[in-house]
Amino acid sequence: MELKWLAMVLVVLSLRAGLCDGCLEEERFALFQLKPFFEFINYKLQANNFESNPESSSNCCEWERVECDPITGRVTHLFLNYSSSNKMQWYLNASLFLPFEELQNLSLNRNFIAGCIANQGFERLSSKLDKLENLDLSENHFNDSILASLSELSSLKSLNLEYNLFTGLNPTNGKVNI
Ligand SMILES: *[C@@H]1O[C@H](CO)[C@@H](O)[C@H](O)[C@H]1NC(C)=O
Ligand SMILES: *[C@@H]1O[C@H](CO)[C@@H](O)[C@H](O)[C@H]1NC(C)=O
Ligand SMILES: *[C@@H]1O[C@H](CO)[C@@H](O)[C@H](O)[C@H]1NC(C)=O
Ligand SMILES: *[C@@H]1O[C@H](CO)[C@@H](O)[C@H](O)[C@H]1NC(C)=O
Repeated sequence: MELKWLAMVLVVLSLRAGLCDGCLEEERFALFQLKPFFEFINYKLQANNFESNPESSSNCCEWERVECDPITGRVTHLFLNYSSSNKMQWYLNASLFLPFEELQNLSLNRNFIAGCIANQGFERLSSKLDKLENLDLSENHFNDSILASLSELSSLKSLNLEYNLFTGLNPTNGKVNI
């Protein structure tokens, strides 16, 4: 009887070890797909000098800018705030976030993003990222044309649009709690 329990515990432990070994392969791959746009994605924050301090772990769940669910090992929060050295405005391909199906929080603030590329806007995420609750787009260069695509993200509870280039709206200063 005891041996059986011991065997079960060992099986469970080895399964967990497999997960702790790293984030999912497809999510790690997706993080490197993001790297050309968010170049500091695998750098630790150290004063004002990112470059001297790359992440040492190959397990991306241990990276400072990535948070995973400890049990499933899936990415739940991406801190991509202030992670591009590009000071020119640029256009985002939101489909790059499609692999992160368990994502709850996405911080994209402070990146000089001016909008999304054609047909790759946030509406693309609406069917797959159905746990996405907090989206921070503040301190970018988005304008009113982004709003239609955002309205399709039905799981959102909080959306931060402060310090962008909106014209019309603004009853709440850009911060919306849904
Ligand atoms: C997402 O952000 C909210 C509010 O900032 C926080 O309470 C929550 O713990 C975060 N969730 C994850 C998975 O990081
Ligand atoms: C990104 O945001 C998190 C949470 O607000 C903060 O702790 C972190 O320092 C920010 N990173 C950068 C590079 O600004
Ligand atoms: C946007 O990203 C998706 C997912 O990686 C990719 O399939 C698509 O080709 C990209 N579109 C453009 C125009 O780069
Ligand atoms: C608003 O952003 C879109 C791209 O998302 C751009 O094509 C358009 O020119 C911008 N409009 C203004 C008034 O800047």
